[in-house]
Amino acid sequence: MRKPFIAGNWKMNKSVAETRDYITAFLPLVKGAEAEIALCVPYTNLYAAAEMLKGTNVILGAQNIAWANKGAFTGEISAPMLLDAGASCVIIGHSERREMFGDTDRTVNMRLDAALKNGLTPILCVGETERERAQYKTKAVIKKQIIAAFENISAADAVKVIVAYEPIWAIGTGRTATPDDAELTCAYIRKRIGAKYSETAGAAIRILYGGSMNPQNAQDLMLRSNIDGGLIGGASLIPEDFVKVVKYNGV
Ligand code: PGA
Repeated sequence: MRKPFIAGNWKMNKSVAETRDYITAFLPLVKGAEAEIALCVPYTNLYAAAEMLKGTNVILGAQNIAWANKGAFTGEISAPMLLDAGASCVIIGHSERREMFGDTDRTVNMRLDAALKNGLTPILCVGETERERAQYKTKAVIKKQIIAAFENISAADAVKVIVAYEPIWAIGTGRTATPDDAELTCAYIRKRIGAKYSETAGAAIRILYGGSMNPQNAQDLMLRSNIDGGLIGGASLIPEDFVKVVKYNGV
């Protein structure tokens, strides 16, 4: 059984004080929720958030990670640093990092490896552009991204990865993939993992949908058999909204 996983991606939003206010409001709302919940906050908010989330049902994540553990990498933050600050998961290969900050399939693979070696749960993002979709290249793009990201990753580690299918044209646009489309691509990702590792690995790995997921469309998406959760940007910024996604089925 794959436990639903709902992660908020705050992107570059919120001060430390805003983070504290958010968590104070959010924790009572999600107490006893069925889904596993993560908040992926900016680096500067990790430590303050970790202190408040200790011993709760909400885990803490970051939004990127260095591929090295330490050294001359100005501006980077490593896996041991994230663990030290209280994070247990990390988003890797988000399309905004691929598009604006030079992440490639190769660096995504290196970051994924660093997360796994250090015991952080990676949330690996893949997804096609609008143009690639119009050219019917979605599957080819996803296949390439998945093969590259999982290169030299063992089967034991692969099942610890959470994959987020995020069609780039749906991110922050209010245009969600239809549940049918999202389901098809998530099923395809599962098939690729199954083909590379084993059917058991394919059946075990958790796959999320991301891209304008919100309280209105969450349930329809989550009801699909290959969608195990969501990576939510805009709709995760207000506790009263995000809880409606977390409790998409009322619990
Ligand atoms: P969105 O962002 O929910 O605002 O579309 C999702 C993401 O980029 O992870």
